[in-house]
Amino acid sequence: MAAGRFLTFEGGEGSGKSTLIRGLQELLAARGHDVVVTREPGGTPLAEAARALVLTPPVDEDWSPVAQALLVNAARRDHIERLIAPALEPGACVVSDRCADSARGFQGERRVDDHVLDTLETLTVGDTRPDLTFILDADPAELQQRRTDRGISDVFENKPLSFHQGIRARFLHLAGQNRDRCVIIDALSPIEAVKTAALSVIETRFGAV
Ligand code: TMP
Repeated sequence: MAAGRFLTFEGGEGSGKSTLIRGLQELLAARGHDVVVTREPGGTPLAEAARALVLTPPVDEDWSPVAQALLVNAARRDHIERLIAPALEPGACVVSDRCADSARGFQGERRVDDHVLDTLETLTVGDTRPDLTFILDADPAELQQRRTDRGISDVFENKPLSFHQGIRARFLHLAGQNRDRCVIIDALSPIEAVKTAALSVIETRFGAV
């Protein structure tokens, strides 16, 4: 795999992104790659502060959909400018747990207009677009137990199943629109099978790792 690759992982809550990312990180690092693992919202001190504001607002109120879209994009801009682009430049492989597609999924499902999300994404991401995006897909009803086991309480975890189903549909639609970049992986397969599938996609796209 050539240097300077930007990989993102997307999917519903409890789809197993973190476990897969950890597995791939070990594997790529063991083969000598300089791997930077990060997440969104977050990844830099300011973006992590914005994450807390978005996911656990300090007052008993949620942000309006557009305000929330602005906050996650502000966090993303800081993350890209200060961490992702500088790491890609000298040739690291950057692996991010979520990126701009999550705004399409989550803020899109909160009914922020596509043209607003388009504009924000263009402003925020610029040329630093992922080379490859894995979408971990499963019926949210099947992931319910995992979400409960994680015990995370944030503004999205407690939304009704229909909200999570809407997000799933949005991710699948995105994958259909971006076939060159997005690969769907069955999130319910055993982790070893998921890891092997992801690695095989990376090798097919970028050469042996
Ligand atoms: P996670 O790290 O457990 O996946 O949680 C991140 C949460 O942030 C998740 O609920 C999705 C949400 N999110 C957005 O709403 N918009 C975004 O642009 C991003 C990156 C994440």
